[in-house]
Amino acid sequence: MPKFYLTTPIYYVNARPHLGHTYTTVVADTIARYQRMCGFDVFFLTGTDEHGETVARSARKAGVEPKAFVDEVAAQYQRLWKTLGLEYDRFIRTSEPGHAAAVKKIFQVVKRAGYIYKGKYEGLYCIPCELYVTDPTPEGNCPTCGRAPERVQEENLFFRLSAFQERLLEHYEKHPEFIQPVTRRNEVISFVRSGLRDLSISRTRFGWGIPVPDEEGHVFYVWFDALTNYLTGIGYGAGGAKQREFSRLWPADLHLVGKEIIRQHAVYWPAFLLAARLPLPRSVWAHGHWMFEQEKMSKSRGNIVRAEPVHRVLGSDGLRYFLLREMVFGQDGNFSYAALLTRYNSDLANDYGNLASRLLTMVERYFKGEIPYPSAGADRTAEDKEVEAVAEKSITRFQQCFDRYDFSRGLEAVWSLIAALNKYLVETEPWELAEDETRRARLATILWTAAEGLRIATALLYPAMPTASERIWSQMGLEGDPSQVKLDELSWGQLPTGTRIGPFESVFPRLDKEAVLRQLRELEEKLTAGPTGAAPGGAVAADEQNWITIDDFAKVEMRVGEVRSADRVAGAQRLLKMMVDIGDEVRQIVAGIAEAYSPEQLVGRKVVIVTNLQPRRIRGVESNGMIVAAAVGEQGRPVLATFSEDVPVGARLK
Ligand code: MSP
Repeated sequence: MPKFYLTTPIYYVNARPHLGHTYTTVVADTIARYQRMCGFDVFFLTGTDEHGETVARSARKAGVEPKAFVDEVAAQYQRLWKTLGLEYDRFIRTSEPGHAAAVKKIFQVVKRAGYIYKGKYEGLYCIPCELYVTDPTPEGNCPTCGRAPERVQEENLFFRLSAFQERLLEHYEKHPEFIQPVTRRNEVISFVRSGLRDLSISRTRFGWGIPVPDEEGHVFYVWFDALTNYLTGIGYGAGGAKQREFSRLWPADLHLVGKEIIRQHAVYWPAFLLAARLPLPRSVWAHGHWMFEQEKMSKSRGNIVRAEPVHRVLGSDGLRYFLLREMVFGQDGNFSYAALLTRYNSDLANDYGNLASRLLTMVERYFKGEIPYPSAGADRTAEDKEVEAVAEKSITRFQQCFDRYDFSRGLEAVWSLIAALNKYLVETEPWELAEDETRRARLATILWTAAEGLRIATALLYPAMPTASERIWSQMGLEGDPSQVKLDELSWGQLPTGTRIGPFESVFPRLDKEAVLRQLRELEEKLTAGPTGAAPGGAVAADEQNWITIDDFAKVEMRVGEVRSADRVAGAQRLLKMMVDIGDEVRQIVAGIAEAYSPEQLVGRKVVIVTNLQPRRIRGVESNGMIVAAAVGEQGRPVLATFSEDVPVGARLK
């Protein structure tokens, strides 16, 4: 059997896993299952990247030793992958002693080959990204995360990256499949063409890392350490049988990564390997990012979605389906709970789930639970032949798409079969035929045809939705499980005679969108704020902090208003009565700001108004809202909230 070795990035343990990490791991799991069905002997590696300054800082903040900290977060990753049914072959942790030995070994090889020298680095450094910032943004920030780098100066060991410029370019030229998709390939080529600088591969700023042999005080730069996991994870440097396993599996067939780390994987990594005289991986595939609320999902931006609530409410297949179907692999995708539920209800509950339940109910009712077989010589109608043609086409199309990791279109191909089957049942109306004893042969052909189509769709869906596929497979009474189907052999007409359907239950029950949305949000909040869900040193328990939930905050409506007029309130020294335009109406608002602002200063000014506060009377004057101000100093002098950019009247604050 040919082998197929694929990897995900190893994830940093400074934060708990979120949907972005889940995405890459789900994709890898899907590819692993798919390649197995294509006859490959698959090895799937994932793990955690546990060294570096950020991790050391997070541990310090949590008040624990780095090792205890990384053990806890690595365990969270492993638990989540287990919960989601993601089946890797090996989980590598860079804090394993075997890994450290392998990193030292590859370093010695590279050093002996003359690619290491000692030098001084002086410049900018981004701690969260663990990167030297040589090309800051115009504002002087890190180009990867946008945060402000620090100025550092240190003596480092350098790797002669510049020596590999031509060889890398040659390799990209000769192996166009090495970097995918093509946009990333072009990006990398132009980066390399613009000239490669040597790369610092050791640090003396912190101690939480693998010590560099013979260099007191130096630990390996996280990327030199981290990238090597792809070798250690399959036995590099371990000797004996493990080394044989390494020789069998290396080079990797596929490194899956997010687009932000393409440079490390398509430039640094092949250069390290060339220096160590090891073969290069066959391809590095960089996918896009999940955005949430218009921005890349990330801990620092605080716009994180987690997999656990979605899993709890929709099951892992609901989540997998959405991630694979909604994102065009390679491009960015927008995550929203509303889109998730719409897809679930329409594609899974209505189309696929309904097809299975409708069909199996009819088999039970009209044929006592045995899938009927078309009688010999029964005429096949144009409709029957059309379904067969669609099924054959879906098999081919699905494979073409999955071979190039176009999951979205591959699933679409399966859905064209599911849609054809639903249409077939509606048009042939088997429930009408069932009323007529003389039409039994036709009824048998129809149910067999639909069942055969459902079998094929279910087999094709196994890589993307293993649990649902297995359940429907067994409900149909089919032998074994869909993972054993050989995709190359899958074709129309293989449904065995005398198949007895198993006990039936709905795999994708339809969900009440509103109620589920609420449930998802509640779970998400609990997880973010809850004491058990929090990362070590992360959020404090909700009750200790008096947190409000996002729903509580969303109850407050704040809008930009413009003051049309302002007058003092007779007999009240501190009060002003204002008429404020909030976009769709003009409100009367009374505020205690007269000692800080004169009416003239306010007219024409943009202010922030809480617009859904219960109206109340202040000194007999009705106030329909509240103006937002900071309370400064001991006296609480009001300073009105303003914007440094012009904003339209009526704009909502959130
Ligand atoms: N530790 C390094 C990788 C070393 S590999 C030798 C690292 N870790 S990470 O925790 O930051 O994980 C980054 C990876 O997580 C991305 O490359 C991608 O696979 C996944 N994702 C993280 N956020 C993501 C999105 N918002 N969207 C999609 N995937 C993202 O970098």
